[in-house]
Amino acid sequence: MGNQRESVHGMWSSRAVFVMATIGSAVGLGNIWKFPYITGEYGGGAFVLVYLLCIALIGIPIMMAEVLLGRRGRASPISTMKRLAREEGASAAWSLVGYAGVVAGFLILSFYSVVAGWALAYVFQSAGGGLNGITAAGSASVFGDLVGSPDQLVVWHTVFILMTTAVVARGVRHGLERAVSVLMPALFVMLLIMVGYAYVEGDFARGFNFLFEVNFSRVFQVCSGEGAQIACRVSGEPLLVAMGHAFFTLSLGMGAIMAYGAYVPDHASITGATITIAVADTLVALLAGLAIFPIVFASGLEPGAGPGLIFQTLPVAFGNMPGGHLFGTVFFVLLVFAAWSSSISLVEPAVAWLVEVRRWSRVTAAFLVGALAWLLGIGSALSFNVWSGPEYQVLGKTLFDLKDFVASNIMLPLGGLLIALFVAYGAGRHMALEELSISRQRLFDAWWFVIRYVSPVGIAIVFLNSVGVL
Ligand code: PHE
Repeated sequence: MGNQRESVHGMWSSRAVFVMATIGSAVGLGNIWKFPYITGEYGGGAFVLVYLLCIALIGIPIMMAEVLLGRRGRASPISTMKRLAREEGASAAWSLVGYAGVVAGFLILSFYSVVAGWALAYVFQSAGGGLNGITAAGSASVFGDLVGSPDQLVVWHTVFILMTTAVVARGVRHGLERAVSVLMPALFVMLLIMVGYAYVEGDFARGFNFLFEVNFSRVFQVCSGEGAQIACRVSGEPLLVAMGHAFFTLSLGMGAIMAYGAYVPDHASITGATITIAVADTLVALLAGLAIFPIVFASGLEPGAGPGLIFQTLPVAFGNMPGGHLFGTVFFVLLVFAAWSSSISLVEPAVAWLVEVRRWSRVTAAFLVGALAWLLGIGSALSFNVWSGPEYQVLGKTLFDLKDFVASNIMLPLGGLLIALFVAYGAGRHMALEELSISRQRLFDAWWFVIRYVSPVGIAIVFLNSVGVL
């Protein structure tokens, strides 16, 4: 608004399309696969509460900051940060935010694609009748067979990377606009039906309490074991993981939202759009939790089962519900789609940048980026079989877990912190005022206070806590 720049990569045709595409980026495996499994691992309600607080106090304000920077700069995150730092008389070093984001995008895609590959494999499992009448034990063994096979994992990972690359090569707009506005609502409806199933057939009360009953001591504890055997130790980890997940699930801190912000029409309101996106994303995660935990408890499964949780749980529901054969297949198709519309945004910052500075075509840039992510992803696929042993682990984590941990819990919050600091201190009030053009002064002042003090201090506290300083 302050300037009339145009993006060389095209524009969203309306604010509504931006909202839909960004919901497409935000809603993905993070909501349906990761949220339930980490909530299960970190013990439920207390973790969920911290995650919700992080969404409200850190996620939403920083998302507004990312969108406003993107629209102001109208270029890839790297070029945007360079350009705005120059205009605002700030250090050129701020562009590091953009570079770090590109690296985080690669790291995330390289494990994301493997999990998306599981979802692809389950489309065929379900369509072929492989889940019909399945028991909890049978479901665990189907999952075990899949992740135990490096060949299968690499094939599915390859398919998913090709799918992502193909859309990014065509330009995000063409590939995405229409599909997202139909399939995202479909996924939402599907989840509602599954919550209905969990209500009737699952142990709904126990699942609900697990998600929403807050036991504050669990905020600072990591526990393992069950019942009387449960053993807990004090740790800053749950806090760090909950905050990292708030960034991950909103696609924040690595430039994806900034890249999408670059294509937002001039006069669209950023505040309303951001809140809609964050609320939709949070609802999807909570619905996924409500669909899964009642089944986990009713089938005697383990909430802390780890990354396989939904793939071991949901088939039990699909395998035994009327129409589950079709229903399960459609569900996994929609899950693949949700992952797809997220992975596109993981590579968009890198591709947009290569197009700008190297003058490559989108096709060349997308294929190069896809090839690199593919190569990195092989290590994630092997983490479940050939490289699963302790001799291949660092700090007790496989390559898959390590990439997730470093990218989600360290790089994204750090990127978010720097984005908040740039908007609040590097650029200053006038830029934010112009871009946000919030008519109610009080609302702007509240956001400005949060982005200056609350979000940065919050992130810093969680970081210091997790390294044992606080
Ligand atoms: N938000 C996506 C999800 O929840 C993942 C993602 C993270 C996408 C970062 C883009 C950038 O599945």
